[in-house]
Amino acid sequence: MSLNELTDINEQIQEAADIIRRGGVVAFPTETVYGLGANAFDAQAVARVFEVKRRPYFDPLILHIAERGWLGDLAVDVPMAAKRLIDALWPGPLTVVLPKKPVVPDIVTAGLPGAALRMPSNEIARGLILAAGVPIAAPSANLFGSVSPTAAEHVMAQLGSAVDMVIDGGECSVGIESTIVSFMGEEPALLRPGGTALEEIEAVIGRVVIPSNGELVNQSPGRSGTHYATSTPLIRIGGVDKIGGINIWCTDPSKPIAKIGLIALSPASVPDPAALPPAVVNIEYLSASGDLREAACRLFAAMRRLDAAGVDAIAALPVPSVGLGLAINDRLSRAALKGEIASPQIKR
Ligand code: TXA
Ligand code: MG
Repeated sequence: MSLNELTDINEQIQEAADIIRRGGVVAFPTETVYGLGANAFDAQAVARVFEVKRRPYFDPLILHIAERGWLGDLAVDVPMAAKRLIDALWPGPLTVVLPKKPVVPDIVTAGLPGAALRMPSNEIARGLILAAGVPIAAPSANLFGSVSPTAAEHVMAQLGSAVDMVIDGGECSVGIESTIVSFMGEEPALLRPGGTALEEIEAVIGRVVIPSNGELVNQSPGRSGTHYATSTPLIRIGGVDKIGGINIWCTDPSKPIAKIGLIALSPASVPDPAALPPAVVNIEYLSASGDLREAACRLFAAMRRLDAAGVDAIAALPVPSVGLGLAINDRLSRAALKGEIASPQIKR
């Protein structure tokens, strides 16, 4: 079934729900990014998600639910802080990790004792989950390690022939993945900055621990390694130098970079465009006004455009680490060349 064969969205939802119930795999929109979903209770269907995405089995999937009431079926215990957070911020771009009930298959959580749970705010996503009548296990609908899809076309181009259906819900309104908070330890921990600002979360439950990259490996195995990667090498640059130019370095100086595509927050974040190296042939500003929410929403599409622009390298200037800036910098540092990811850690 292809994108245009079904036009009416409700028909698409019903058709997709049938496919999910029969053990199929469907790509669907959420407010963050498109998901690649299967019935979370059907281990075989979930295995197909891993296959289609070429994702290693050690990297667990988020369970998407339609109503808060479903939590009790999946989680053994919902600590008071988690309950307050969910009451305040669901539905939306927030995932919580809670101790799982045995009904959640081990393949979904990669054998971890916690299940990641999220109630999306996107009406199509919730309509689909409700119509399927089961939680939907879904990673982002891209091949493992590559840039997440924020439009149905992105999914079609990469996975169109491998999935049973793609629901076209237009562009994602948040455009960056959910924030993940784990309640498996003594204190709530931020496993991934995302579409809900850390400040918003801390306003509800107080201080959230930020694990180091090393600690993350055990708590959220999929958070290690290069991710969100463009096929063009992406270089994260340190900042703006004293004379207003941008220092762009290359990990391999023997290979000079002739053409660079630059990602910057806004025109104001590049103080003197005239001082840019002449190799910079293309600039993607994420937000004309420097709005971090808009910038987060436009980040992945900008990365895709530069990837298709025929440049030798993509260089990205870090953005302020406040609000959704934390998620933007996280994605940029993980998209960067392997040797460079070790350095940037979330600091505050
Ligand atoms: O916004 C989102 O979260 C999107 C949409 C589709 O909902 N989903 C998404 O899924 O980004 P994915 O699989 O691309 O990223 C989920 C991250 C991975 O880093 C994974 O390791 C972590 O969440 N994760 C999933 N289940 C977990 C668990 N039980 N414990 C710890 N980390 C978990
Ligand atoms: Mg992903």
